[in-house]
Amino acid sequence: MSKYIIEGGRPLFGEIDVQGAKNAVLPIFAACVLTKEEVTVKNVPDLADVKSMENILNNLGVTVKKEGDTRVLCAKNVLSDSIPNELAKELRSSVFLLGSVIGRIKSAQVAYPGGCDIGLRPIDIHIKGLRDLGVTIEERAGYLFCDGTHLSGGEVVLDYPSVGATENVMLAAVLAPGETVIRNAAREPEITDLQNFLNLLGAKVKGAGTPEIRIEGVTSLGGAEYAVMPDRICLGTWILAVAMCGGEAALIGGRKAEIHSLLCKLDKSSCHIREDSGIMYISAKGRPVCSERISTRPYPGFPTDLQAQYCAYASVARGTCVITENIFENRFRHVPELVKMGADITVRDRVAVIRGTSFLTGAEVTARDLRGGAALVIAGLAAEGKTVVSQVRHIDRGYQAMEKTLSNIGAKIVRI
Ligand code: UD1
Repeated sequence: MSKYIIEGGRPLFGEIDVQGAKNAVLPIFAACVLTKEEVTVKNVPDLADVKSMENILNNLGVTVKKEGDTRVLCAKNVLSDSIPNELAKELRSSVFLLGSVIGRIKSAQVAYPGGCDIGLRPIDIHIKGLRDLGVTIEERAGYLFCDGTHLSGGEVVLDYPSVGATENVMLAAVLAPGETVIRNAAREPEITDLQNFLNLLGAKVKGAGTPEIRIEGVTSLGGAEYAVMPDRICLGTWILAVAMCGGEAALIGGRKAEIHSLLCKLDKSSCHIREDSGIMYISAKGRPVCSERISTRPYPGFPTDLQAQYCAYASVARGTCVITENIFENRFRHVPELVKMGADITVRDRVAVIRGTSFLTGAEVTARDLRGGAALVIAGLAAEGKTVVSQVRHIDRGYQAMEKTLSNIGAKIVRI
């Protein structure tokens, strides 16, 4: 089991190439099942979740060739419609394959998906959306058995703008005869990335980025070459790290518009951020002031995936911050670990109250989930002395060799 050893208290200076977005590449890989032609996907991050998705695709009969950060996928022969439990439990995004496998071969069997332990994460909205497109779904012994013989376009009104359910319904609708309208769709940039990719294959999808997505079914899709969008959550993590530690960094590929909700919550007197020709520049000096209130919301609201990292930032900032976690019910597991480092945080239900302290002290802490783990690392960078973060495997699900990225900007961090 890998650990990170961090010597904190150093400012950060240098350049970071923002990796491709995990949450964009996973549905894009799922979409590859829809075409018999070869697809080249570039800017693919080297992550545990991406490897899990590749294993599931291999098991379905899809070939995946790796060349650096490019993958060449070919679903000429989809041999199986089944995703067994031992593969699905590694990855919540295995659920996207329901939509694409049903779209391609009109049936699918998927074990209930796994993923981060940050709450119940039901899939009722996915199931209802697929049923609205004529799919018959039975739940038995931990598996979903789906019959898509009568798959056709339809109107899908999501009870909540679920990211995964929006993507799943899009994937099922692309090859379904007739028009599909998804109302109350999620508006995350990764959904626009999926739309762009699908349209490049020959699909007819419009409206991504708004609450109404329209899909006109086509009979088949072709091949394409596509570069995955940069990861806005990694971008936000690096911004918070520099804001906490001080320093200057160029974040290559960073797009300000996609993390507007975070930038609004940073202290403009201590931290200056600008974007120029596809690069975001951040310079930070002195102890920042935290925002008084953060409430996680679907995009364009404050992302739940940056809540833990903001918690770390607020722990060392001036002032008191009240964070309400509205999306997931079990997403404060980093708090007891930050408290070990000297943070002053109390949690009741879904609300954390953070009173900034002037410094954190290195400690032995444990990553309990992906983003919570990232929060502990950036807290360790800002803390005085040595921090040991164990269970780095959680962080590896979403950050490609985080220790290399951070070492490149002057952090003292090693993996053991
Ligand atoms: C995606 C992201 C994840 C991010 C989350 C919210 C990927 C691979 N993962 O996850 O990093 O934290 O969006 O921005 O893109 N819900 C239901 N029933 C459902 C589906 C969802 O009740 O059928 C609930 C969930 O339990 C949660 C909320 O809706 O409380 C949001 O979930 P959703 O938007 O679906 O997140 P994911 O797609 O799982």
